[in-house]
Amino acid sequence: MPKGRREVPPTAGLALVPRDFVAAGASLERGVAAFVEQTWAQVECSGTAALVVALATLKRLSGRRSVVVPAYTCPLVALAVIRCGLRPVLCDTRPGHFDLCPRALAAACGEDTLAVLVTHLGGRVADFTMASAIARDAGAAVIEDAAQSLGARWRGRPVGGLGDIGVYSLGVGKGLTVYSGGVLVAQDAALRPELRKTAAEMAPYRLDWELRRMVELAGYGLLYRPRGLWLAYGLPLRRKLRAGKLIEAAGDDCCAEIPLHRVGAWRKRIGANALKRLPGFLAAGSARAAPRRSRLEAIDGVSVLGDTEGDAGVWPFLQVLLPTQQARDEALRRLWPAGLGVGRLFIHALADYAYLEPHLDGSGIPNARDFAARMLTVTNSEWLDEDDFEQVCRALEESIH
Ligand SMILES: Cc1ncc(COP(=O)(O)O)c(C=O)c1O
Repeated sequence: MPKGRREVPPTAGLALVPRDFVAAGASLERGVAAFVEQTWAQVECSGTAALVVALATLKRLSGRRSVVVPAYTCPLVALAVIRCGLRPVLCDTRPGHFDLCPRALAAACGEDTLAVLVTHLGGRVADFTMASAIARDAGAAVIEDAAQSLGARWRGRPVGGLGDIGVYSLGVGKGLTVYSGGVLVAQDAALRPELRKTAAEMAPYRLDWELRRMVELAGYGLLYRPRGLWLAYGLPLRRKLRAGKLIEAAGDDCCAEIPLHRVGAWRKRIGANALKRLPGFLAAGSARAAPRRSRLEAIDGVSVLGDTEGDAGVWPFLQVLLPTQQARDEALRRLWPAGLGVGRLFIHALADYAYLEPHLDGSGIPNARDFAARMLTVTNSEWLDEDDFEQVCRALEESIH
């Protein structure tokens, strides 16, 4: 247990330093574009907003109306599809994984498929070759959802830059954050003015939203450290857990009203300044994750999601699969309230959220449901020290045996 009133965050986010707030900043668009080896990037007010802009643009350019979404992903993804007046089609995942099942994907794609969302979840690299081949066969666009994977690489190339459109999140808890933000990249230069046009139409400057996000980003700068997190994150989390509000505790209580507005210059400058530290931060995270992954996998019955040889993801947290839901739930009973950065990513497969159920066909997604039932996350934060990590491992061992 962290000593005293301290809390380890569930994901390794890049903390801000005072200099980020005062230094003259470069352009966030140019900085992120260079970081992911692109020549163009567009900043939006969230990863969800970036998805909305991407989908609304594709919709304007095509008569197709279905979007294939992994059955285990962030509920905001399905809400973005619905917000655009498009039809989300769930695709089951591979067994014991979040990534799309090839057979289910082939069955989900058809003449009406506008896009397939290939999702690099939690820093892990999805099977892009398989998914893009099936999407292309169906004449669908490929949107890479790299919301949680800025900096990950597929065969040496940054994820997000492989498909037609790539989306990153700069939300709180991701590596790089402007409290709430997102980034779009597009391979086809002709698509970029279309994306700009959509954003100009859908996302005006909103002083009320920007002021709120400025205060929130300043709060993040002050509080994103163990003592501040205890106050701002840990106390409300434990209150929700005591009340049995798991969806709220995981942050899955998403609202169908998706804010759409421009990101102001002050927040962008802070993001651009922090971005300079991102490569070193991600490299340190990878070095920390490797021995932790080995230690966790040494526990009988535990597996940890990794990447295919040749791919190199990033490590905000480790996705840990336990042998049974019972063992997973017992581990969470001990660890989720403990301030050690253990928790759940998304509570359900998408069709099992009450607010999404009316919009989704939840048949044929057993693997996504099984993944949701057996997975927990262990933070890769630098603030989880070796004693804390051992405590996590021992609790997992005891929960299984
Ligand atoms: C896979 C995935 N896609 C999209 C989003 C939406 O990003 P944002 O929270 O920045 O709106 C998230 C958020 O966590 C996510 O995990």
